[in-house]
Amino acid sequence: MREMRYSSLRGWLFRLDPEWAHGATLNLLRVAGALPVLSPWLRRLSGIGKASGVPVELLGLGFRNSVGIAAGYDKDALGWRGLAALGFGHVEIGTVTPRPQPGNPRPRVFRLAEDRSLINRLGFPSRGAAFVANRLAGTRPPGFVLGVNLGKQRDTPIERAADDYEFLVEVFAARADYLVVNISSPNTPELRRLQEARHLKPLLARVRACRDEQATRLGRRIPLWVKLSPDLEARDLEQTIDAILDSTVDGVIATNTTVARPDLRSPLAAEPGGLSGAALTAPSTAILSRIRHHAGPALALIGCGGVMTRADHDAKRTAGASLVQIYTGLVYEGPALLGRLLL
Ligand code: FNR
Repeated sequence: MREMRYSSLRGWLFRLDPEWAHGATLNLLRVAGALPVLSPWLRRLSGIGKASGVPVELLGLGFRNSVGIAAGYDKDALGWRGLAALGFGHVEIGTVTPRPQPGNPRPRVFRLAEDRSLINRLGFPSRGAAFVANRLAGTRPPGFVLGVNLGKQRDTPIERAADDYEFLVEVFAARADYLVVNISSPNTPELRRLQEARHLKPLLARVRACRDEQATRLGRRIPLWVKLSPDLEARDLEQTIDAILDSTVDGVIATNTTVARPDLRSPLAAEPGGLSGAALTAPSTAILSRIRHHAGPALALIGCGGVMTRADHDAKRTAGASLVQIYTGLVYEGPALLGRLLL
């Protein structure tokens, strides 16, 4: 019954422009999240009912389960209460930029239905830090964790990127349970060069110092993750991980979208942008596993990329991830995916 309901909603949503459909979904989530009476209905939709999954304790944060929403789904913190009501253990808001910016021209999100994948070249449309920070106020359900993913303004040169990230850490330290330095989105020119060890070391030294200052001021831990691309070559990946280990950042989110184009059947496969979903599952899990192998137990890992089934979720956990995030799977499978991943 549940499955039937989402497949009919999906049929309707898939007739709309993908970005427009996403906006409509977020609006529904915003309204649903503001009405606690809908909570039992939302939990039935996601298939978890009264259960909440197996809790995860990580870096001093208590997650009620292992599955969260990846960055990009709720960029401006509009729908997180609805996502929390569905039963997710965490939501990563953002990517947020210091000031509002429009992102790239539309169309900029494409469904590759034959491949159960998406391509996007949004380029960080954001309502900016002040707007998003306001949307994070108020209480949260117990066991629900709210992270914020930070990105540099499009027109900030990479030599000055640390100024943007520092500013964002100062704005969000008091409002977020954890923070993420995003240096891996393929749609902001030059952003991914920040993954090169020579840029990454000074960047993380400053961001971490700023985080430490805020943590002392606030009297609590604020875990800091770095989100990486699946497109790093083996040697570069090792140097990047070494730089992350040196900087004593808490963990890595692996991975963002890929600019590679594995065998795809969809006619939209040549659209420029970052590819996510089923076509990303294997390469993303392989990178996660290489990171765990190289870093040993030192880093807290979050697995993200092409989690469409319970087997994909379990493979990320086996490869070393403490938590798993989804985005494209939710678009194709609907909220019932949460129940399938957890129960
Ligand atoms: C994303 N992703 C993303 N990541 C990020 O760090 N900041 C962002 O703003 C966005 N925006 C974004 C928009 C859209 C439309 C998509 C599909 C994806 C990447 C996302 O968080 C995740 O890393 C990848 O999509 C891989 O996971 P899935 O989608 O295969 O589960």
